[in-house]
Amino acid sequence: MSNSIKISPSILSADFSKLGSEVVALEKAGADYIHIDVMDGHFVPNLTIGPEVIKKLRPLTKKTFDVHLMISPVDNFVKEFANAGADIITFHPEATSNISNTINLIRKENKKVGISLKPNSRINLIENHLDKIDLVLIMSVEPGFGGQKFMPEVLEKTKLLKDLIEKKNLKVDIEIDGGINFENCSLAKKAGANILVSGSTIFNENKGDLKKNIEILRKN
Ligand code: DX5
Ligand code: ZN
Repeated sequence: MSNSIKISPSILSADFSKLGSEVVALEKAGADYIHIDVMDGHFVPNLTIGPEVIKKLRPLTKKTFDVHLMISPVDNFVKEFANAGADIITFHPEATSNISNTINLIRKENKKVGISLKPNSRINLIENHLDKIDLVLIMSVEPGFGGQKFMPEVLEKTKLLKDLIEKKNLKVDIEIDGGINFENCSLAKKAGANILVSGSTIFNENKGDLKKNIEILRKN
């Protein structure tokens, strides 16, 4: 089980003045993916980075760019993020007027498709699309900021989703994002998550020892 766990560090907690070397350091430290949080100050009350920055980071690593779009409406930007170098493009169902259409736009760019559920967003929003996507990103905090407290109530939803994916015989990854630390990571895995996003734990614990922190999250 633990072998199949992937760690996707969120660069939201990195030092933005040296983002390039932070990404290289994450690769060296054993990150599986690089989680990139894109916020528009409209869908969520914060602003982060856009496609230009991703384009500049792209040549620095071959690691999967796991791009979490918290922007609305999302469709207008799919192509730009694909061209910038995203490998997985994850959107929120509330950020589009037509979920199938957004899935198709991402597929057309040959990128993996993820859909993200905010803590209060229910599985039935995406149930009919599960066979057309690669990943569900369960938010365990309200999207918008790093360093928030994990919401244990999303574990039940994670379990239900895992059961549903198995019942339908699908191969859809479950990623969990927000407030993941050395204690709750095992609960998230037990509930069915196989990709863990972590920003503040990876960048701040053990004096910022990225390798050690990634290892602990993987093993705990
Ligand atoms: C929140 C972001 C998360 C966040 C994770 O909107 O989607 O990816 O940066 O950071 P931590 O691990 O600090 O909660
Ligand atoms: Zn995220």
